[in-house]
Amino acid sequence: MNEYERCFEAAEYIRSRLDAKDAIGLVLGSGLGELGNEISDPIIVDYADIPNFPKTTVPGHAGRLICGKLNDTKVLCMQGRFHFYEGNDMKTVAMPVRVMKLLGVKALILTNAAGGCNKTFKPGTLMFIDDFINYMGDNPLYGPNDERFGPRFPDMTKALDPEYNELGKKCAEKLGIDVRSGVYMGFRGPNYETPAEIRFAQTIGADAVGMSTVPEILAARHCGLRVIGISCITNMAAGITGEELSHKEVQETADRVKEQFKQLIREIVSQM
Ligand code: HPA
Repeated sequence: MNEYERCFEAAEYIRSRLDAKDAIGLVLGSGLGELGNEISDPIIVDYADIPNFPKTTVPGHAGRLICGKLNDTKVLCMQGRFHFYEGNDMKTVAMPVRVMKLLGVKALILTNAAGGCNKTFKPGTLMFIDDFINYMGDNPLYGPNDERFGPRFPDMTKALDPEYNELGKKCAEKLGIDVRSGVYMGFRGPNYETPAEIRFAQTIGADAVGMSTVPEILAARHCGLRVIGISCITNMAAGITGEELSHKEVQETADRVKEQFKQLIREIVSQM
Protein backbone atom coordinates (compact mmCIF):
# COMPACT_ATOMS: atom_id res chain seq x y z
CA MET A 1 0.00 0.00 0.00
CA ASN A 2 1.44 3.41 -0.87
CA GLU A 3 1.13 6.45 1.39
CA TYR A 4 -1.86 7.85 -0.47
CA GLU A 5 -3.75 4.58 -0.15
CA ARG A 6 -2.81 4.34 3.52
CA CYS A 7 -4.23 7.83 4.18
CA PHE A 8 -7.23 7.26 1.92
CA GLU A 9 -8.28 4.10 3.77
CA ALA A 10 -8.04 5.90 7.12
CA ALA A 11 -10.05 8.84 5.74
CA GLU A 12 -12.74 6.52 4.33
CA TYR A 13 -13.22 4.94 7.74
CA ILE A 14 -13.39 8.32 9.50
CA ARG A 15 -15.82 9.59 6.86
CA SER A 16 -18.12 6.69 7.69
CA ARG A 17 -18.28 7.98 11.26
CA LEU A 18 -18.29 11.78 10.87
CA ASP A 19 -18.41 14.64 8.40
CA ALA A 20 -15.45 17.01 8.71
CA LYS A 21 -15.92 18.87 5.45
CA ASP A 22 -14.95 22.56 5.81
CA ALA A 23 -14.04 22.09 9.47
CA ILE A 24 -11.01 23.77 10.99
CA GLY A 25 -8.43 21.14 11.88
CA LEU A 26 -6.92 21.48 15.31
CA VAL A 27 -3.83 19.70 16.58
CA LEU A 28 -3.57 20.13 20.31
CA GLY A 29 -0.09 20.06 21.80
CA SER A 30 1.17 19.60 25.35
CA GLY A 31 -1.17 20.92 27.98
CA LEU A 32 -3.86 21.96 25.55
CA GLY A 33 -5.70 18.69 25.10
CA GLU A 34 -8.46 19.90 27.40
CA LEU A 35 -9.87 22.11 24.65
CA GLY A 36 -10.98 18.91 22.94
CA ASN A 37 -13.30 18.17 25.87
CA GLU A 38 -15.04 21.51 25.38
CA ILE A 39 -16.24 20.73 21.87
CA SER A 40 -20.03 20.61 21.69
CA ASP A 41 -22.02 17.83 19.99
CA PRO A 42 -18.85 15.78 19.74
CA ILE A 43 -18.43 12.73 17.58
CA ILE A 44 -15.40 10.87 18.82
CA VAL A 45 -13.28 8.36 16.95
CA ASP A 46 -10.46 6.62 18.81
CA TYR A 47 -7.20 6.48 16.87
CA ALA A 48 -7.04 2.79 17.73
CA ASP A 49 -10.14 2.18 15.59
CA ILE A 50 -8.81 3.97 12.50
CA PRO A 51 -7.16 1.68 9.95
CA ASN A 52 -3.44 2.39 9.42
CA PHE A 53 -3.39 5.04 12.14
CA PRO A 54 -0.26 5.00 14.28
CA LYS A 55 -0.37 3.95 17.93
CA THR A 56 0.16 6.55 20.63
CA THR A 57 2.96 5.66 23.01
CA VAL A 58 2.12 8.04 25.85
CA PRO A 59 0.39 5.94 28.51
CA GLY A 60 -3.03 7.20 29.59
CA HIS A 61 -3.47 9.24 26.42
CA ALA A 62 -5.52 7.06 24.15
CA GLY A 63 -5.56 9.61 21.34
CA ARG A 64 -8.75 10.46 19.59
CA LEU A 65 -10.33 12.56 16.89
CA ILE A 66 -13.16 14.79 17.99
CA CYS A 67 -15.47 16.46 15.52
CA GLY A 68 -17.99 19.03 16.69
CA LYS A 69 -18.38 22.72 17.36
CA LEU A 70 -16.20 25.21 19.16
CA ASN A 71 -18.47 28.19 19.69
CA ASP A 72 -20.25 28.04 16.34
CA THR A 73 -17.45 26.74 14.17
CA LYS A 74 -17.04 23.18 13.04
CA VAL A 75 -13.70 21.74 14.15
CA LEU A 76 -11.94 18.44 13.75
CA CYS A 77 -9.60 18.09 16.65
CA MET A 78 -6.70 15.71 17.22
CA GLN A 79 -6.47 15.12 20.92
CA GLY A 80 -2.98 13.66 21.09
CA ARG A 81 -0.41 13.83 18.31
CA PHE A 82 2.40 11.65 17.04
CA HIS A 83 5.99 12.68 17.59
CA PHE A 84 9.09 11.74 15.65
CA TYR A 85 10.98 11.06 18.90
CA GLU A 86 8.49 8.33 19.77
CA GLY A 87 10.00 6.32 16.95
CA ASN A 88 7.39 7.09 14.30
CA ASP A 89 8.74 7.80 10.87
CA MET A 90 8.08 11.22 9.40
CA LYS A 91 5.32 10.06 7.07
CA THR A 92 3.50 8.57 10.01
CA VAL A 93 3.86 11.76 12.03
CA ALA A 94 2.40 13.73 9.12
CA MET A 95 -0.27 11.21 8.21
CA PRO A 96 -3.13 12.76 10.23
CA VAL A 97 -2.62 16.06 8.39
CA ARG A 98 -3.01 14.33 5.04
CA VAL A 99 -6.03 12.46 6.31
CA MET A 100 -7.55 15.77 7.39
CA LYS A 101 -6.96 17.14 3.91
CA LEU A 102 -8.73 14.12 2.40
CA LEU A 103 -11.63 14.72 4.80
CA GLY A 104 -12.09 18.23 3.41
CA VAL A 105 -10.72 20.24 6.32
CA LYS A 106 -10.23 23.83 5.14
CA ALA A 107 -7.39 25.02 7.38
CA LEU A 108 -5.23 23.76 10.18
CA ILE A 109 -4.20 25.16 13.56
CA LEU A 110 -1.13 23.49 15.05
CA THR A 111 -0.17 24.12 18.66
CA ASN A 112 2.84 23.08 20.69
CA ALA A 113 4.97 23.71 23.75
CA ALA A 114 8.38 25.16 22.94
CA GLY A 115 11.51 26.51 24.54
CA GLY A 116 12.22 30.19 24.06
CA CYS A 117 15.59 31.11 22.64
CA ASN A 118 14.61 34.72 21.94
CA LYS A 119 15.75 36.38 25.15
CA THR A 120 12.89 38.87 25.10
CA PHE A 121 10.41 36.01 25.56
CA LYS A 122 9.25 34.80 28.96
CA PRO A 123 7.81 31.47 30.04
CA GLY A 124 4.13 31.80 29.20
CA THR A 125 4.64 33.89 26.05
CA LEU A 126 2.45 32.78 23.14
CA MET A 127 4.21 32.93 19.77
CA PHE A 128 2.70 32.79 16.31
CA ILE A 129 5.07 30.78 14.14
CA ASP A 130 5.79 32.90 11.08
CA ASP A 131 8.53 30.71 9.65
CA PHE A 132 10.39 27.57 10.61
CA ILE A 133 13.70 25.73 10.37
CA ASN A 134 13.63 22.00 9.75
CA TYR A 135 16.55 20.71 11.82
CA MET A 136 14.97 17.31 12.40
CA GLY A 137 17.19 15.59 9.87
CA ASP A 138 14.27 14.10 8.03
CA ASN A 139 11.23 15.13 6.04
CA PRO A 140 7.79 13.58 5.49
CA LEU A 141 8.02 14.52 1.79
CA TYR A 142 11.18 12.42 1.32
CA GLY A 143 10.82 9.62 -1.21
CA PRO A 144 8.66 9.24 -4.28
CA ASN A 145 6.22 12.12 -4.65
CA ASP A 146 2.51 11.52 -5.05
CA GLU A 147 1.01 14.35 -7.08
CA ARG A 148 -2.39 13.62 -5.55
CA PHE A 149 -1.02 15.22 -2.39
CA GLY A 150 1.06 17.95 -4.00
CA PRO A 151 4.07 18.93 -6.10
CA ARG A 152 7.55 17.42 -5.95
CA PHE A 153 9.16 20.70 -4.90
CA PRO A 154 6.65 22.60 -2.78
CA ASP A 155 7.23 26.27 -2.05
CA MET A 156 7.62 27.25 1.61
CA THR A 157 7.77 31.04 1.24
CA LYS A 158 4.47 31.48 3.01
CA ALA A 159 4.30 28.14 4.78
CA LEU A 160 2.54 29.72 7.73
CA ASP A 161 -0.39 31.63 6.35
CA PRO A 162 0.38 35.38 6.65
CA GLU A 163 -3.30 36.41 6.48
CA TYR A 164 -4.29 33.99 9.18
CA ASN A 165 -1.36 35.12 11.32
CA GLU A 166 -2.59 38.71 11.02
CA LEU A 167 -6.06 37.57 11.96
CA GLY A 168 -4.63 35.66 14.92
CA LYS A 169 -2.81 38.75 16.18
CA LYS A 170 -5.98 40.82 15.88
CA CYS A 171 -7.84 38.21 17.91
CA ALA A 172 -5.13 38.31 20.58
CA GLU A 173 -5.31 42.10 20.70
CA LYS A 174 -9.07 42.01 21.08
CA LEU A 175 -8.72 39.61 24.00
CA GLY A 176 -5.89 41.63 25.57
CA ILE A 177 -3.46 38.72 25.20
CA ASP A 178 0.14 39.63 24.57
CA VAL A 179 1.50 37.57 21.66
CA ARG A 180 4.73 37.53 19.70
CA SER A 181 5.74 36.02 16.42
CA GLY A 182 8.89 34.26 15.38
CA VAL A 183 10.78 31.37 13.86
CA TYR A 184 10.27 27.85 15.20
CA MET A 185 13.18 25.43 14.91
CA GLY A 186 12.37 21.73 15.07
CA PHE A 187 14.86 19.36 16.71
CA ARG A 188 14.54 15.58 16.78
CA GLY A 189 14.60 15.31 20.57
CA PRO A 190 13.82 13.60 22.86
CA ASN A 191 16.46 15.31 24.97
CA TYR A 192 16.17 19.03 25.50
CA GLU A 193 18.83 20.86 23.51
CA THR A 194 22.31 21.59 24.84
CA PRO A 195 23.24 25.19 25.63
CA ALA A 196 25.62 25.07 22.64
CA GLU A 197 22.78 23.96 20.37
CA ILE A 198 20.67 26.84 21.64
CA ARG A 199 23.46 29.36 20.87
CA PHE A 200 23.54 27.85 17.37
CA ALA A 201 19.75 28.13 17.11
CA GLN A 202 19.87 31.79 18.15
CA THR A 203 22.65 32.50 15.67
CA ILE A 204 20.73 31.09 12.75
CA GLY A 205 17.59 33.02 13.63
CA ALA A 206 15.38 30.77 15.73
CA ASP A 207 13.10 32.31 18.34
CA ALA A 208 11.75 29.04 19.71
CA VAL A 209 12.77 25.39 19.67
CA GLY A 210 10.69 22.24 19.92
CA MET A 211 10.29 18.63 18.88
CA SER A 212 7.08 18.67 16.86
CA THR A 213 5.02 20.65 14.32
CA VAL A 214 7.63 20.84 11.51
CA PRO A 215 6.49 17.58 9.85
CA GLU A 216 2.86 18.67 10.06
CA ILE A 217 3.59 22.09 8.54
CA LEU A 218 5.51 20.46 5.67
CA ALA A 219 2.74 17.98 4.90
CA ALA A 220 0.05 20.66 5.18
CA ARG A 221 1.79 23.04 2.78
CA HIS A 222 2.51 20.24 0.37
CA CYS A 223 -1.19 19.39 0.11
CA GLY A 224 -2.34 23.00 0.04
CA LEU A 225 -3.80 23.29 3.54
CA ARG A 226 -3.50 26.75 5.06
CA VAL A 227 -1.76 26.61 8.44
CA ILE A 228 -1.49 28.61 11.66
CA GLY A 229 1.09 27.49 14.22
CA ILE A 230 1.11 28.74 17.78
CA SER A 231 3.80 27.91 20.33
CA CYS A 232 3.40 28.25 24.04
CA ILE A 233 6.85 29.18 25.32
CA THR A 234 6.89 26.97 28.39
CA ASN A 235 10.50 27.60 29.41
CA MET A 236 13.55 29.51 28.36
CA ALA A 237 15.73 27.21 26.24
CA ALA A 238 18.79 25.49 27.68
CA GLY A 239 21.62 27.66 28.98
CA ILE A 240 19.69 30.94 28.96
CA THR A 241 18.87 31.16 32.65
CA GLY A 242 21.40 28.60 33.87
CA GLU A 243 18.61 26.53 35.40
CA GLU A 244 18.13 22.93 34.32
CA LEU A 245 15.08 22.11 32.18
CA SER A 246 12.36 19.76 33.26
CA HIS A 247 9.20 18.34 31.82
CA LYS A 248 7.55 19.44 35.07
CA GLU A 249 8.31 23.10 34.32
CA VAL A 250 6.99 22.65 30.79
CA GLN A 251 3.74 21.20 32.12
CA GLU A 252 3.38 23.82 34.85
CA THR A 253 3.73 26.73 32.43
CA ALA A 254 1.42 25.12 29.88
CA ASP A 255 -1.10 24.68 32.66
CA ARG A 256 -0.75 28.29 33.81
CA VAL A 257 -1.47 29.79 30.39
CA LYS A 258 -3.89 27.23 29.03
CA GLU A 259 -7.01 29.32 29.73
CA GLN A 260 -5.56 32.19 27.67
CA PHE A 261 -4.38 29.80 25.00
CA LYS A 262 -7.82 28.17 24.76
CA GLN A 263 -9.55 31.55 24.63
CA LEU A 264 -7.26 32.64 21.80
CA ILE A 265 -7.91 29.50 19.79
CA ARG A 266 -11.66 29.80 20.27
CA GLU A 267 -11.53 33.37 19.00
CA ILE A 268 -9.34 32.55 16.00
CA VAL A 269 -11.49 29.59 15.03
CA SER A 270 -14.63 31.71 15.16
CA GLN A 271 -13.03 34.37 12.89
CA MET A 272 -11.64 32.00 10.26
N1 HPA B 1 13.15 22.33 23.82
C1 HPA B 1 12.49 21.47 23.00
N2 HPA B 1 11.22 21.20 23.13
C2 HPA B 1 10.54 21.80 24.11
C3 HPA B 1 11.16 22.70 25.00
C4 HPA B 1 12.54 22.98 24.83
O1 HPA B 1 13.15 23.77 25.57
N3 HPA B 1 10.18 23.12 25.86
C5 HPA B 1 9.03 22.50 25.49
N4 HPA B 1 9.24 21.71 24.43
